[in-house]
Amino acid sequence: MAFLLRALVLPVFLSSVPWVAGSTFTLLLSLPNTSMPFSVGRIGAGALIAIDAVNRSPDLLAGHLLEHEYVDDECSDVNGPGKIVELLHRRNYSAFIGPACSDVCAITAKLAAFWNIPVVSPTCADQQFLIKKAYPTLTRVFGPFTKMGSFFVKICEKFGWRHISIIYDHRPAWIIPAEGIRYQAEVNNITVAKYLAFQTPLGQDKTHMTLTQARMLQEVAEVSRIIVISARGEVVRDFLIEAHRKGLTTGDYVFFCFEPYRLEEMFGNFDWKRGDVDDSMAKQAYQALFLLSLYKPNDQKYWNFSNDVIRRSREDFGYAYAPNEKVSVLAAIAHDSVWLYAQALNETLAERGDPYDGFTITRKMWNRTITAVPLRSKYLFFKGDLAKKAASLPHREMYRYPG
Ligand SMILES: *[C@@H]1O[C@H](CO)[C@@H](O)[C@H](O)[C@H]1NC(C)=O
Ligand SMILES: *[C@@H]1O[C@H](CO)[C@@H](O)[C@H](O)[C@H]1NC(C)=O
Ligand SMILES: *[C@@H]1O[C@H](CO)[C@@H](O)[C@H](O)[C@H]1NC(C)=O
Ligand SMILES: *[C@@H]1O[C@H](CO)[C@@H](O)[C@H](O)[C@H]1NC(C)=O
Ligand SMILES: *[C@@H]1O[C@H](CO)[C@@H](O)[C@H](O)[C@H]1NC(C)=O
Ligand SMILES: *[C@@H]1O[C@H](CO)[C@@H](O)[C@H](O)[C@H]1NC(C)=O
Repeated sequence: MAFLLRALVLPVFLSSVPWVAGSTFTLLLSLPNTSMPFSVGRIGAGALIAIDAVNRSPDLLAGHLLEHEYVDDECSDVNGPGKIVELLHRRNYSAFIGPACSDVCAITAKLAAFWNIPVVSPTCADQQFLIKKAYPTLTRVFGPFTKMGSFFVKICEKFGWRHISIIYDHRPAWIIPAEGIRYQAEVNNITVAKYLAFQTPLGQDKTHMTLTQARMLQEVAEVSRIIVISARGEVVRDFLIEAHRKGLTTGDYVFFCFEPYRLEEMFGNFDWKRGDVDDSMAKQAYQALFLLSLYKPNDQKYWNFSNDVIRRSREDFGYAYAPNEKVSVLAAIAHDSVWLYAQALNETLAERGDPYDGFTITRKMWNRTITAVPLRSKYLFFKGDLAKKAASLPHREMYRYPG
C-alpha cells in the first residue's frame, strides 16, 4: 500500500520540479583578464578542467550538464559587479566561480546573497569575509593551504605549542596561507594571539620598513613565541635579521615562513645568502626559521593537470604560459572550487532540494571534506639553512574547507 502510494505521488512531485533530469547548470566564471597571479589566463583553465571532469563523471551530476560563461570582471568594483548585474538580466546562473579580487568580491557576494546564488571563490582572502553572516552565500576555497594549516597544527601539537602569532603581507598570495593556518589553528584550539597585516611598501625607504618590522616583532614577541611570517622571501629575511638584532633567534622563539613552491618572481628568494653585509647575521638567524613548502608530486596525474592547464589557458583564454612558468597553485584551487560546488549540488539534487537555493547549497560546501583533487600535496619543512630536511610529519590525505 505504502509502495503504491509512493509510486503514485512521486511522478507528480517529480514533474513539478523542472531540474530532475537533463538540466543544464550554468556557472559564471568571474576573473580578471589581466596579468595578475589569479587572472583568468593563469587559473581559469583549472575551473574548465573540473567542469569537464564533472560532466564525464558517472556519479557526479549524472544526467545533468554543467556549463560556464566567462565575464572579465577587470578586478574593478564598478565594472565587475556592473557586468554581472547585466548578465543576470539575461539568464540565471546556478553559481559564481570567483570573483578573485577582494574589491569585486565584496560587492558581488552581497548581491549574490540577495539573489541567493552561491559564490565559490578561489581567493577573496580579505579578513572582512570571515564574517559569515555578512556573506551568507560565499564560500572561500583555500585548497592546499588549509591542509598546510593542518600540517602546521600537527607541528604545534607535537611540540606542545598552544599560542601562535601571524604576521602577513596584505596581498592575496600571502593572505591565503596565513588564513589557512589561522583557520586550522583556531579549530584546533590553538590561540592566534596576534594576526597582523602589513602593506608592502611601494617606494618607501628601507628605514621605514625596518621600523615597522621592529614594532611588529615587538608586539608579537610579547604574547607568543611561535611566529608565522607569510611574506616574500626577501621580506622574511629582513624580519629575521631584525629579530636577530632583538635577540629573538637564540632558541626561545621559533619562526615559520612559506614558499608555496619555487617561483622567485612570485614568492621571492628564501635563501639567507644574498651576498650583502647581512649574510652572516641572516645565516645565524635562519637557525630559528622553519620553511614550509608544498611538495608537488611528480606523478602522472599532477603532470596531466599541469599540462592541461597550460594547453587550455591558450585555447580557451588566449593566455600563453611562459616556457619556464609553473602552473599556479591557484589553478588547482579554481579546479577544487568547481569540484566542491558540484558535490554540494549533487547532494542537493539527491535530496530533491532546490538547486537554485544558494544559501542551502553553501551550507553543504562549508565543512566539506573532499578527495580527488589534482594537487595531492604533502608538506615538507626545512630548518636552518633550508637544505636540511628536518622532518616530515604524517599528514592526512583529505582537505578540509573553511566556509
Ligand atoms: C530564472 O529562473 C526563474 C525561476 O526558475 C524564472 O522564473 C526566470 O524566468 C529565469 N530568468 C531568466 C532570465 O531566464
Ligand atoms: C576545543 O575546545 C572546546 C571547548 O573547550 C572543545 O569542546 C573542543 O573539543 C576542543 N577542540 C579540539 C580540536 O581540541
Ligand atoms: C594522463 O594523461 C594520459 C594521456 O591523456 C592518460 O592516458 C593517463 O591515463 C593520464 N593519467 C592520469 C593518472 O590521469
Ligand atoms: C584577454 O585579453 C587578451 C588581450 O587583450 C585577449 O587576446 C584575450 O582573448 C582575452 N581573453 C579573454 C578570455 O577574454
Ligand atoms: C551524487 O548523487 C547520486 C545520487 O543522485 C549518488 O548516487 C552519488 O554517489 C553522488 N556522488 C557523489 C560523488 O557523492
Ligand atoms: C562547521 O564546523 C564548525 C566547527 O566544527 C561548526 O561550528 C559549524 O557549525 C559547522 N558549520 C556547518 C555549516 O556545518
